[in-house]
Amino acid sequence: MLLENVSIRHFRCFTETGFVFKPGLNILFGPNGSGKTSVLEALFFTCLTRSFRTPRDVEAIQWKKENFTVKTTWNDYGDVTFSVVKNRGKKLLLNNVPVEKYSDWIGQLPVIILSPEDAELAMGAPQLKRQYFDRLFSQTSHDYLKALIRYTRLLKQKNAYLKFKNDKNSYTYDVQLETYEEQLAPLSWKIYTFRKDQFFILNEKLKNFFKYIDTRDIPVNIEYKPSVSGKSKEEYVENYLAESRKSIHSDIILKRSVKGAGYDRIDFTRKNESLKTGASQGEKKFWIVCLKLAEGEYFKTVTGKEPIFLFDDLLSELDISHAKNLLDYIGSLQQIIITSTDLSDIRRQGISLSPGSFNIIDI
Ligand SMILES: Nc1ncnc2c1ncn2[C@@H]1O[C@H](COP(=O)(O)OP(=O)(O)OP(=O)(O)O)[C@@H](O)[C@H]1O
Ligand SMILES: [Mg+2]
Repeated sequence: MLLENVSIRHFRCFTETGFVFKPGLNILFGPNGSGKTSVLEALFFTCLTRSFRTPRDVEAIQWKKENFTVKTTWNDYGDVTFSVVKNRGKKLLLNNVPVEKYSDWIGQLPVIILSPEDAELAMGAPQLKRQYFDRLFSQTSHDYLKALIRYTRLLKQKNAYLKFKNDKNSYTYDVQLETYEEQLAPLSWKIYTFRKDQFFILNEKLKNFFKYIDTRDIPVNIEYKPSVSGKSKEEYVENYLAESRKSIHSDIILKRSVKGAGYDRIDFTRKNESLKTGASQGEKKFWIVCLKLAEGEYFKTVTGKEPIFLFDDLLSELDISHAKNLLDYIGSLQQIIITSTDLSDIRRQGISLSPGSFNIIDI
């Protein structure tokens, strides 16, 4: 899976432009505001039908325009065209044929994005991390995505019912709640076991990258802390239902439950300390970069496909030795696009890339 080129129309600062990419390392150079992040965003749209910068697609339409179009060509897919029209929504075409179900498209063009917004992930609220990994795992498993959609829908209904009971001052565990919980429990189990297995694989990869690029043996971990657990489905469901009965009073007061897959915690640690409180800016950044590379390897292991990497502002905050080791490694990836404000940024760090080993794109 290799991206060959992109044409962009009426997208952020671009009226009409295009870029050609090569396998391996592509470096997008340009001053602040030249549109580097926008190019990555446009590519991300075609891979996942959404932005990584905003939940509102129309925000990416160039000011005073009515729509945007991003047309990409991939070596083994052909043309993938994504467009958004104000008040009419989005459209994805694969070789000019509309893709009807976006959930079927997710994972076809796997992509790993590194953006400045990821700094929030290191600091992150539990919900942010759950969402983050749910998105990742949804790209590798349709079953997971389906279970997640069903679970989220049911949970919303159940929480609405908790609110209804709160309004009525009714604090009993009734048949309606039991029906919700009996449907939610097995779905929650499915999500929990899947996550547990995936985190096991991801952790192995993460540790390898850390060791390889940092060269020191620093313990790092993604800690998955489920709010309910169980060795078997029966045990999990039993624990889930017992917890749900036990907490019914406080759930109705809060108007939401606090147990189950929708409330599991995920923590990032470095030297057995939380990344959030115990790491410097650069250490956090490096941790997240290694996570992204681990995700790529994870993808390859479970789907057989190597994703395209879009790394925005990769080198900022990293010292020379980390930057150097990183650049050495990413040169071996199938395809990666990184952004930088100018070439001297890389040269200033004493890093010289061998000519021909990378593709420079000036914006
Ligand atoms: N909807 C829009 N229509 C027109 N221009 C926009 C729109 N949204 C953002 N811009 C402008 O697009 C320009 C490019 O933004 P972008 O974030 O891609 O730049 P960048 O090259 O990544 O900059 P930096 O080096 O600071 O990260 C900015 O000047 C921004 O104001
Ligand atoms: Mg930018």
